[in-house]
Amino acid sequence: MNRRYRRTIIAGNWKMNKTPAEARKLVEELKPVIAKAKWCEVVLCVPFVDIPIVVRLLKDTRVAVGAQNLHQDESGAFTGEVSGAMLKGAGCKYVIVGHSERRQYVGETDALVSEKVRAALDAGLRPIVCVGESLPQREMGITKDLVTLQVKTALTGIGVDQLKKIVFAYEPIWAIGTGKTATAEQAAEVCEHIRTVIRKIYGARPARSVTIQYGGSMNAENSEELLSMLDVDGGLIGGASLKAKDFIAIVNAANQ
Ligand code: PGA
Repeated sequence: MNRRYRRTIIAGNWKMNKTPAEARKLVEELKPVIAKAKWCEVVLCVPFVDIPIVVRLLKDTRVAVGAQNLHQDESGAFTGEVSGAMLKGAGCKYVIVGHSERRQYVGETDALVSEKVRAALDAGLRPIVCVGESLPQREMGITKDLVTLQVKTALTGIGVDQLKKIVFAYEPIWAIGTGKTATAEQAAEVCEHIRTVIRKIYGARPARSVTIQYGGSMNAENSEELLSMLDVDGGLIGGASLKAKDFIAIVNAANQ
């Protein structure tokens, strides 16, 4: 992380875990510590149905609440979908866009991710845009080409003012939920590459202010080393965000 130029952001991605009652219990455990984090921003990206209770419990704190997906349209006949304006109205500040699980299981494409990024920004939400390669893609040596395409497509039509609101998360698919973390060097190499792609489009100054997180089996043990890399500006944390003790340890590592 490099706090001189950009904010460090630690975001929990609860995925499809925690009922509202379980969410309340976890947030009550987390709150005394994460509400005090001064040097990093903490975000909880929770299932839609948990948003009201989590927003209520965190309302007097700086901890932000996020969703894990949104629909690309403003409103309409899209049964089962949720719009950016709804999330904003419910108290969300962030929304995860293009998580690899949605790319893989729901067929989200780079083009759709780009539409969702715009929808999030239009609704006044900060998108956390996920990019990253699979193991075969890494082994083929195409990680950087692929990530370049993902980043460039996500930024299509985005002006420099809106760039400030976007967070990127580099999440190698082979590291998600597998316990197989990228080494700090591997994580930093791709995060740095993402910044280079952004720099080529927007210039050096806007690029150095963008927060680029790492995600994929980040935990209490490895977070300090990952976050010590200059271009790793935080984490998007799945499994370890579900246990108060582990998530608190990561927030503490970022808050030093
Ligand atoms: P993980 O998930 O920390 O469980 O690997 C990260 C993510 O998918 O955002």
